[in-house]
Amino acid sequence: MHSAFDPSSPQARAIAHLWWWMFGFGAAVWLSVMIAMVMAVQSKHGERGSDDLLHVSHETHRGMQRTVIGAVFVTVLILLGFLAFDFSVGRALAQHPQQALTIELSGHQWWWEAQYVDPDPSKRVVTANEIHVPVGEMVQFKLTSSDVIHSFWAPNLNGKRDLVPGYVTTHWFRADTAGTYRGQCAEFCGLQHAQMAFYIIAEPRPKFLGWLAAASAAPDPPTDSTLLYGQRVFMSGGCAVCHSIAGTEARSTVGPNLTHFKSRSTIAAGTLANNRANLTRWIVNPQAIKPGVRMPPSPLTPVQLNALVSYLETMK
Ligand code: CUA
Repeated sequence: MHSAFDPSSPQARAIAHLWWWMFGFGAAVWLSVMIAMVMAVQSKHGERGSDDLLHVSHETHRGMQRTVIGAVFVTVLILLGFLAFDFSVGRALAQHPQQALTIELSGHQWWWEAQYVDPDPSKRVVTANEIHVPVGEMVQFKLTSSDVIHSFWAPNLNGKRDLVPGYVTTHWFRADTAGTYRGQCAEFCGLQHAQMAFYIIAEPRPKFLGWLAAASAAPDPPTDSTLLYGQRVFMSGGCAVCHSIAGTEARSTVGPNLTHFKSRSTIAAGTLANNRANLTRWIVNPQAIKPGVRMPPSPLTPVQLNALVSYLETMK
């Protein structure tokens, strides 16, 4: 599960550090106010009969004035302190090297499209919902959206950053520990906003490069007759209208790129585990699983469905 209290990057640690200080000061202020209130109520009980505020003595009045001025001074001091602390954390978060691995991330209702920038455009890797990054290295994200405003939030790695249609925002982090970090869209973006998760998979550089090389290769064309039939169903049955598979004529970018679909652990942006039963269920009627999603139900015969699922299962 994702958690801002379990930071795994310098960026998330800086945010968590600031949060704990704010929490500590907030708790101390609340406690002092409660203690002062209880003391005030008790002293009032002690002087029954003399509760007319107009008749408090001159000294008591001066004492109250000093307390209020002192409390205002302390409040302003704390707020100014946190303002400076907040700015310093903001500056630290904005620092990044110029030469960093860049991933272009686009938000869609309701999934994430990731493109690994390469000087050679033919080597661009396109994937969805599961973003591999090298551990211990700063990674830069260029964020935008194809429809409405979304928000990229992997709390263990950094704070939130909005994805705005027609505008590019930038975000960075450096994962310090290898592992899989869950992230979630953090801006209400329609019916399935809650089912718009993603995973950041941080792995050592050699492993990451291995993944990138595998991801940039087109899958082997099917030879088996069932798989060939499955591919024909994919191309003619409506799938190719929205999805793309490298090395085939399916090149649409409306839906997630399926070239290495089977290498991902979930279907539909973290909604279902990626297994044969769920994939079949998903293809038959995505609307029953994720109502409102742009993928329509597929009226296929059992033989077509079986062949299509078998073909997609080879997209490793
Ligand atoms: Cu995308 Cu909420």
